[in-house]
Amino acid sequence: MDTFVIRGGNRLHGTLTVNGSKNAALKAFAAALLTSQPVRLSNVPEVEDVARIIEMLRKLGVVVRRLRQGTYSVIARHIEHGNLDPDTAKRIRASIVLTGPLLARTGAVSFPYPGGCVIGKRPIDVFEAGYRAFGARLHERKGMFHVAAKRLIGTTFFFGTVSVTGTETLMMTAVLAEGTTVLKNCACEPDVEELSKFLNACGAKISGAGSPTITIHGVRRLSGGSYSVMPDRIEAGTFLILAAATGNRLTVDRCIPGHLDSVLDVLRKMGVRFRAQKNSLTVIPPKRLTAVSVKTREYPGFPTDLQAPVCVLQTQAEGRSLIHETIYEGRLYWTEELKRMGADVRLFDPHRLEIQGPTALRGRDIESPDIRAGMAFIIAALCTRGTSTINDAYQIDRGYERIEERLKAVGASIRRVRN
Ligand code: EPZ
Repeated sequence: MDTFVIRGGNRLHGTLTVNGSKNAALKAFAAALLTSQPVRLSNVPEVEDVARIIEMLRKLGVVVRRLRQGTYSVIARHIEHGNLDPDTAKRIRASIVLTGPLLARTGAVSFPYPGGCVIGKRPIDVFEAGYRAFGARLHERKGMFHVAAKRLIGTTFFFGTVSVTGTETLMMTAVLAEGTTVLKNCACEPDVEELSKFLNACGAKISGAGSPTITIHGVRRLSGGSYSVMPDRIEAGTFLILAAATGNRLTVDRCIPGHLDSVLDVLRKMGVRFRAQKNSLTVIPPKRLTAVSVKTREYPGFPTDLQAPVCVLQTQAEGRSLIHETIYEGRLYWTEELKRMGADVRLFDPHRLEIQGPTALRGRDIESPDIRAGMAFIIAALCTRGTSTINDAYQIDRGYERIEERLKAVGASIRRVRN
């Protein structure tokens, strides 16, 4: 496992460019399964989770070619079977989004309980109920789920829990189902709307994506198409927070400011100012940050994926703040390690954390537990005056492409040690 060695305290300056969205790219690869014709995906981030989804597609007989950095051709002309490779599927949660399109194309899928970041229970009951609503049969044996349907019939389905991958997966399942599907209480993340635009460009008939109710009129087949992955709003938010936490004026380029309202709102309340242009934001940090409490919510609320970075920011702000993590019940435990860096944090229960700031953080040897907490440790390490070692760089590589090179380019002292 690679390690990052970071020496904090450098002055950072310049521009951080945002890559294509990891989570949108993963769903675009899944969508390519819905058509037998070629699909071209560009602005794909070259991150480990994308590599895993490509591995899974290839094991299904799908031809995936890397045309150049960030551009892929996917041809799912012949799908050999609907069995997801259990070893890879267990490593990323997004493996489950392959199951809807696969079911629609092959009539039968099997998959293990999906893995991914260890941030809470992450059940799959929404998917099970959804597939049954389309008329599929489902059973579990020896840790594998088996879903089969000769025909998928359009349905009306209410999401008891708002789920991003659940919404995307059932939306994709409905595209080739017979008749009309109405999905209610859907996730409204920009990723969902983007996916629907791509599918519609390939001939799907989806309306309402990005709102709580999505209507899909089933079609017999989709054509091929091309899609350029939208900028990663989580990566953009991470960079904005990094600039604010380290007190540096940095420009975050190729972002969509309109996707970042909740993040900008929190940062502004903390005293950060921005110079905004169409696709870029320059962070103008204040002399002193003010503590502001944060509650994570579904979009357009404050994203759970930025809870860890913003927590590091709170440690640098003056006063007491609370983080209320409402989406996951296991996503605050990483702060135990942050405490070892000197943070004054107190966990009340699995959902609520108190932070007292500002604190001078100390360099440490830390394990990276998941993508976002790993990135938060990088930000924390950059805030210190000492040296930190972040082990298990793979976790960060899952979601951030060549992060050390990009941070080095703005003046950070960070290097990767290959073990
Ligand atoms: C997506 O996960 C993202 N992953 C996550 O990003 C992100 O944290 C999350 O959305 C929330 O924004 C991908 O897009 C691949 P959910 P997802 O289903 O879709 C519960 C990252 O770091 N739930 O919206 O899996 C679930 O336990 C990652 O990039 C059920 O109860 O999240 C959670 O509490 C991590 N039953 C809540 O819903 C279900 O069947 C929201 O989860 C499904 C979900």
